[in-house]
Amino acid sequence: MQETDHYRKGIESAIERLKETHSGTIYNPAHYILSLPAKRLRPILTLIASDMFDGELKGTENAALAVEIFHNFSLVHDDVMDEAPLRRGEQTVHKKWNLNTAILSGDMMLVMAYDQIMKTPEISRLRAFNIFSKTAADVCIGQQMDMEFEQRWDVSLEEYVEMIKLKTSVLLASSLQLGALCAGANEYSTERLHEFGLEIGWAFQIQDDYLDLFGNTESLGKQKGGDIYAKKKTILLLKALELGNNAQKDRIAQIFKGEVTSETINELENMMRSLKVPEAISELKNEHMTKAKSALDDAGGNKSIRELLWRLSLTLIDREF
Ligand code: IPE
Ligand code: IPE
Ligand code: MG
Ligand code: MG
Ligand code: MG
Repeated sequence: MQETDHYRKGIESAIERLKETHSGTIYNPAHYILSLPAKRLRPILTLIASDMFDGELKGTENAALAVEIFHNFSLVHDDVMDEAPLRRGEQTVHKKWNLNTAILSGDMMLVMAYDQIMKTPEISRLRAFNIFSKTAADVCIGQQMDMEFEQRWDVSLEEYVEMIKLKTSVLLASSLQLGALCAGANEYSTERLHEFGLEIGWAFQIQDDYLDLFGNTESLGKQKGGDIYAKKKTILLLKALELGNNAQKDRIAQIFKGEVTSETINELENMMRSLKVPEAISELKNEHMTKAKSALDDAGGNKSIRELLWRLSLTLIDREF
């Protein structure tokens, strides 16, 4: 979205400046993943939230870097866990290097993220540190649930909701909260922004699940059907099991229990289309965006920047990458 381009460019140059402070091969994978084309959504949220409350760029930019580095760290380890070959249109770190390098460079990136949190404005630094640590732990819990669900066939919608809240939404929510905090916003406003972030996070992860099967591999930069190869319990699967007849449910189970191929992926895509799964999840996204809107309307701050944040959120739920 063009309107947020200046924020994205600010993040890109902050990343470039940070890279110049590092030397040694250990940083190569970190620099590699951080340099691949990305939306920079989380740090943009941090910067916008700070602008809503007239924050100063200097300290906020460090919080923005922290959330983007943390996100990239989580992707390096996520790709190991999901056995993903492609990320942002290029080889994943464990494919380009090896497993040990992906583990160690991920560890280093977590340290780099904490380094940035410690450079946020002193007045709110301890609170920022606590928010950041709680979020990082939540993401790990969400990722653990995501892995455990691979082995299960009885995952409920409630369990899925909890899992994506932890693995995805909390980081979007905290990215906003940290931005507002760096700007000195009050507790009420930062809490409303957090609530807003949880709702858009919901819609964001649903769209991520949708794109895994229905997206264009080239623009998405990830392997088509990666979630099916990894036997993930995504919203697509849960909806298909809810809407399908017994024969269709049995066939889905058979596919998930056997070896997944590009043919079975196409078969699932067609079945999901015929069951109108994309329409069903569109409805879910809209429900959460309605809740998001009321939390945002309540958050206060600069009205025109708040409206910009809303327009950005709307582009995310129908994004193609
Ligand atoms: C991917 O995040 C991982 C999820 C939590 C869904 P993004 O879709 O924000 O990925 P990049 O950073 O733009 O590559
Ligand atoms: C990623 O979820 C969540 C985190 C990295 C914490 P996914 O596994 O769905 O993300 P993609 O689809 O690989 O980007
Ligand atoms: Mg993944
Ligand atoms: Mg994953
Ligand atoms: Mg995904």
